[in-house]
Amino acid sequence: MSDSAFNVAEIGRTFWSDNVYEPSDDSFLLVDVLQESPCSWLSKKPTLVVEIGSGSGYVICSAARILKHKGLHSHMIAVDINPAACHATQQTLCNHEIHDVDVITSDLLAPLLPRVCGMIDVLIFNPPYVPTPDHEVRNKGISQAWAGGERGRVVIDRLLSQLPDLLSPQGELIMVAVAENDIPELIHIMEGRGFRGTMLMTRRADEELLSILRFTKDLGNIPRVQ
Ligand SMILES: C[S@@+](CC[C@H](N)C(=O)[O-])C[C@H]1O[C@@H](n2cnc3c(N)ncnc32)[C@H](O)[C@@H]1O
Repeated sequence: MSDSAFNVAEIGRTFWSDNVYEPSDDSFLLVDVLQESPCSWLSKKPTLVVEIGSGSGYVICSAARILKHKGLHSHMIAVDINPAACHATQQTLCNHEIHDVDVITSDLLAPLLPRVCGMIDVLIFNPPYVPTPDHEVRNKGISQAWAGGERGRVVIDRLLSQLPDLLSPQGELIMVAVAENDIPELIHIMEGRGFRGTMLMTRRADEELLSILRFTKDLGNIPRVQ
């Protein structure tokens, strides 16, 4: 086992319940990418790291361990719209003896605005990406983990429209998407908002083709007038 494999959260110490998303192939792919990130993190020294939709806490806990292992001391915040997920995140962090991550029940980052605007150096997002009827996005509980509305884009599009205000100049969004979300269109839309989008890793898991996308401000690209 590689050195970095020890840095991520342990499934045996990760908590979830019937109402909370169990860490799955998408969570593991996301954490695999985070393990590759320390080189850029070491040079950028992120001050504020945020995860939207933390679920069990497996991902934010892994990020916290990776950062600590590299000697980086970032302020970390995890939010989830599902109170049961926030409880699970807190439990998972506690089980890993991580006590310095703020966990907040929140629809995206609503209660943190405008305070965090322009300050987020690393934003992590494994959204509800499964195509469903739009009305299912409003159901409460575990279905909020996957119900993504038309093309799985309802929550993704809301977050991406806020991204220009959220990231610091050197900031990055690292997010999960599937083919049904129309990844080329996501990248094109974000180019129009002055971002560069790249696909970092792709993996097939059963019927899903999972990708990890990275969006950074393209400082040489003037955003198109909307
Ligand atoms: C696919 S799960 C990911 C959970 C965890 N990050 C992981 O990778 O295992 C998506 C999570 O996003 C949360 N979520 C959905 N809509 C949200 C919103 N508008 N604001 C905050 N969290 C949301 C869900 O409750 C769920 O926990």
